[in-house]
Formats: sequence, C-alpha cells, structure tokens
Amino acid sequence: MSEQAIDLKKRRFLTGATSVVGAVGVGFVAWPFLSTWSPSAKAKAAGAPIDVDISKLEHGQLVRVLYRKRPVWVFRRDATAIDDLKTLNQELLADPHSKENQQPAYAKNIHRSIKSEVAVLEGVCTHLGCSPTYRPEIGAADLGGDAWKGGFYCPCHGSKFDLAGRVYAGDPAPTNLVVPKYHFISDTLIRIGVSPDAHEVKPIFKSNKLT
Ligand code: FES
Repeated sequence: MSEQAIDLKKRRFLTGATSVVGAVGVGFVAWPFLSTWSPSAKAKAAGAPIDVDISKLEHGQLVRVLYRKRPVWVFRRDATAIDDLKTLNQELLADPHSKENQQPAYAKNIHRSIKSEVAVLEGVCTHLGCSPTYRPEIGAADLGGDAWKGGFYCPCHGSKFDLAGRVYAGDPAPTNLVVPKYHFISDTLIRIGVSPDAHEVKPIFKSNKLT
C-alpha cells in the first residue's frame, strides 16, 4: 500500500446524522455521532458552552457538534497535515496569515488553533453560509490535483479551504472559516464557547462521548 493510501485511510471521517458535512470519499468511515446529544431549548437559546470529548478522536477523523445553532467541526490533524499547512503555497490562499478577524488571538497562527493537532472550526462557508464538505484526501483531482493537501470544499459556489480553514484566493468566500472561542479543559476535553482566559463560565450541558 502506498504512503498516500495509508494516509488517506487514516483520514477517516466521522459525520453526524445530518447531511451538513456532505458526501465523503470512498473508504471514509461514516460514524453516527452525538445522536443523543440533546441540550434543552433554554440552554441552546442561551448559547451555553458545550464540552466535546476527543479522547477517541483519531488522526483524520472529524466530528460535528452544534453550537448556537451552527455546526462546529472538531478534527485531529496528523503530522503530514500539520506540515502541509506550512508548506502549502501561501500564494494560493487569500489570507494565509489570518490577518482578518476570523479567529480569537490564540488561534492566530499557521494552524489556526490552540494545539496544532486539534482543529476547531465553524462549519459555515463565509460566502453565503453553506456547510462545506470535508475533503481530506491529498491530491484530489477535482480540487487541484497535486496542489490539494486536503481541506474543505463548498459545493454551493465552489469555495475551497485548507485544513486550517483558510480560504483559497479567488474563490467566492471572502474570508477564512471562523474559529470559535474554545479552550482545553484537559488533553481530551474541549469546551467550545469559552476562551482560555474565561474558565469561570460553567457549561450547562455536555456532549456525549465518542464510542
Ligand atoms: S456558500 Fe460556499 S461558496 Fe457560496
């Protein structure tokens, strides 16, 4: 098996019960997730922080949760994906250094996250609000061939984003995907909706664990 094939196998894909994340490539694993996650209407309306257990999240896997009625993706990048963020031709990107205010200050870096391995992004295209499809397969012919290092594709009008949510230059989406506020409660638990400097805010509910 080639190195790339192994890499693709690693980049498995978890999706929720909805179709928000869209179609996945052959060989990717669809895994029902958070189906029992049911915060109260009051909690949802309040935009309460949510906790996501990533203890079983493997390299390449992506899970989706809802925060303030918007999809949020949490996914784990492998070493190749992290390196690709650095080596990707920056001229291909509209805002490679995240100068636009689309992320908290602690995510203003090459991987647009607190930890390089774990990404947290709003799954909402910055053009007209469709939810892009996870396309982690390196070299996808329909997305640029060898230049494509994995990322997200918005089927509505063709915008592309890399695995840090940085938009490709010239695409309809004007800015990078939003990074929501979040922090790590522990190595395996993320709290979405609260920045690292605001730990005193208590979550009202928790998501269920990956199984
Ligand atoms: S909504 Fe994504 S490209 Fe238009």
